Amino acid sequence: MISTRKLWLKLLGEVAKFVGDVSKKEDQEALVAATVEKFGQLNVFVNNAGVEAVTPFLKIDEKELERTFKINVFGTVYGTQAAAEQFIKQGTPGKIINACSIAGHEAYEVLGTYSASKHAVKAFTHVAAKELASKHITVNAYCPGVAKTKMWDRIDAEMVKADPSLKPGEPFAKFSGEIALGRYEEPTDVANLVHFLASEDSDYITGQAILVDGGLVYN
Ligand SMILES: NC(=O)c1ccc[n+]([C@@H]2O[C@H](COP(=O)([O-])OP(=O)(O)OC[C@H]3O[C@@H](n4cnc5c(N)ncnc54)[C@H](O)[C@@H]3O)[C@@H](O)[C@H]2O)c1
Repeated sequence: MISTRKLWLKLLGEVAKFVGDVSKKEDQEALVAATVEKFGQLNVFVNNAGVEAVTPFLKIDEKELERTFKINVFGTVYGTQAAAEQFIKQGTPGKIINACSIAGHEAYEVLGTYSASKHAVKAFTHVAAKELASKHITVNAYCPGVAKTKMWDRIDAEMVKADPSLKPGEPFAKFSGEIALGRYEEPTDVANLVHFLASEDSDYITGQAILVDGGLVYN
């Protein structure tokens, strides 16, 4: 009988891990180099890592701005540069896929720093797509809404801390209660869009920040 691990490897293909900090340019370059060494070439690069910040505007400080922008914005720029350099070196087409957010389309109270960082991700997605199109590199972003992950567990806890009239779970329920399709987002809802953007079915799409939010933000 095939073990669960072997079954996953059969389904997923070969996988490898790499530990690094996305906000460091040298780590992004090392990630690409390790990928090429292991798999022969790079085809798709996803800038998924990101952090939230939940703070009233008047309390936003240098530490929060630096951390959030370093990871969400610098990380996306360095990852995109490292991947694009490799695609150009290979002389192949390539796909770069960035994690944006509904907060890259709208700005939310107490999520100012996070919203600004995701607006920056959207802007860099547009610009990189324009500049890299002639090299057959597409650059797109996926914009989740309210997905049940550890990030939202932390956002919920921080919102409760900021407003003691709220009970744990209420901020998540309030935000997800506004979703037109009537349920909160599962990580697989996001993964389905990323899968599409990584596939040849999306070959004629570039420079887009596509909402996958069950009907929350419309534009
Ligand atoms: N959960 C949501 O509702 C939601 C909504 C919109 C956008 N997003 C975006 O989707 C992406 C994934 O979010 P998630 O909900 O899975 O968050 P998460 O906190 O559950 O996971 C984020 C991952 O990023 C990694 N990470 C953080 N800083 C890093 C660094 N400096 N270097 C390397 N890795 C680092 C963490 O270790 C973690 O594995 C993020 O960019 C987030 O902003 C999430």
